[in-house]
Amino acid sequence: RILVLDYGSQVTQLIARRVRDTGVYCEIHPGDVDDDFIRSQQAQGLKGIILSGSHASAYADESLKVPAAVFQAGVPVLGICYGMQSMALQLGGQVEFSDHREFGYAEVRAHGHTRLLTGLQDFETPEGHGMLKVWMSHGDRVTALPPGFKRMASTPSCEIAGMADEERGFYAVQFHPEVTHTVQGQAILERFVTEICGCARDWNMPDYVAEAVARIREQVGSDEVILGLSGGVDSSVAAALIHKAIGDQLTCVFVDHGLLRLNEAEQVMNTMSRHLGIRVIHVDAGEQFLSKLAGVADPEAKRKIIGREFVEVFQTESAKLKSARWLAQGTIYPDVIESAASKTGKAVAIKSHHNVGGLPETLNLKLLEPLRELFKDEVRHLGLALGLPPEMVFRHPFPGPGLGVRILGEVKPVYADLLRRADDIFITELRNTIEPESGKSWYELTSQAFTVFLPVKSVGVMGDGRTYDYVVALRAVQTTDFMTADWAELPYSLLKRVSSRIINEVRGINRVTYDVSSKPPATIEWE
Ligand code: XMP
Repeated sequence: RILVLDYGSQVTQLIARRVRDTGVYCEIHPGDVDDDFIRSQQAQGLKGIILSGSHASAYADESLKVPAAVFQAGVPVLGICYGMQSMALQLGGQVEFSDHREFGYAEVRAHGHTRLLTGLQDFETPEGHGMLKVWMSHGDRVTALPPGFKRMASTPSCEIAGMADEERGFYAVQFHPEVTHTVQGQAILERFVTEICGCARDWNMPDYVAEAVARIREQVGSDEVILGLSGGVDSSVAAALIHKAIGDQLTCVFVDHGLLRLNEAEQVMNTMSRHLGIRVIHVDAGEQFLSKLAGVADPEAKRKIIGREFVEVFQTESAKLKSARWLAQGTIYPDVIESAASKTGKAVAIKSHHNVGGLPETLNLKLLEPLRELFKDEVRHLGLALGLPPEMVFRHPFPGPGLGVRILGEVKPVYADLLRRADDIFITELRNTIEPESGKSWYELTSQAFTVFLPVKSVGVMGDGRTYDYVVALRAVQTTDFMTADWAELPYSLLKRVSSRIINEVRGINRVTYDVSSKPPATIEWE
């Protein structure tokens, strides 16, 4: 395995992702682990260490020092950006500090023949120098090599953009091989982990499942575990994994707030309870939620009410499970974010989970988060390996407050009913319409798609009669990170079919619109 030590760079998770993409298992741990931790990793088959970049300066903070055991572990070490500067400083080189930090495209010249960079190049200069197109981080830089090192790369503004002590297996680069702007980045990381560290490309999902199962068993022993199941990918995969490890020691509480999609509660119960045999308590709390929401139109007020009721219902149910000692959550790696608030400015903190915010503190249970190290696509693969159906595993995200934020203004049961039926038609048509060039359905080609209920009436005509009914908006977006998003250019023929089906089949809706707003300035949800 490869160990990635995190010094707080925002792209640390990309290092892990690239290493795993080569089929090599790796784990990210905070950069200030102690020497004993490094030694315990050695005992578990550690093959190499990667030191990440950081927002900090190598000079700024004593507590961000790389543990000395890293350089004594007898395994290759790759330092990236901050990791390079720390390596230089701690091994006897010199670093020039600067307050000014800049990131950008650069062309780096590779010097000599190091095992890391030999043969990798994007182009050659007229003088015959091999050049790499990279994403550089300028700022602090190494000005003198530590003893035993030679220069591996340079740019006009950064004399030492890479260094290596091949005898000890220490390599370092000032640029970021983990970002896609560095064209040979994947090749460089691949070469480090496979050729230099000698890792076999044998990491795969079944092995991961076995390891994760063993870890969960060790962690919880014979204790009972409770998990809030939402029907979304993360909580479902967490449930399936924990169930595989400890069977009926796991109880899931599925709080149905009455704002789910058409037949969603049944599908969740079918898959999780009947198909996988997981013990699930289905709490049908629709009436309670809807009565609390009556008369409330403000989006944030609605969110608060739904969140509060959720906690209350969950607490009531979990109080019945007197022997539960653990609360399991489907927190995944992107939910685990850096917190600038911490003393060192680099510690990792949990973002309050959308769907179960506030639960851990009030329940007095220990937290079990078996997906903490995984990226979304890895969670999906894990879900498939555990036998969850692809429709569930590849489902678009659905907000915790559900249709509560897709019915604009006050939530009324009749609105929810109309919206559910219209949305089901939209999603079914997206799933059934294949885009010929890619061979994928429009559901797969969009990142999130749904229908929004507008509580306004418009005039229409149907048969011989005039109608005066509600309006819905269709929303479909494409995005990778949900921070920015483009509206999807769905084919007119598809929009036409959806519109005509909704107006004909859902009595009470006589007008369908398509939302052509990007994020920003619009958001994905309407509320
Ligand atoms: P926006 O609307 O902010 O949405 O562009 C970005 C992503 O977040 C989801 N979202 C929520 N998820 N509780 C959730 O669990 C919420 O209150 C909530 N609001 C928005 C949204 O569906 C999209 O995927």
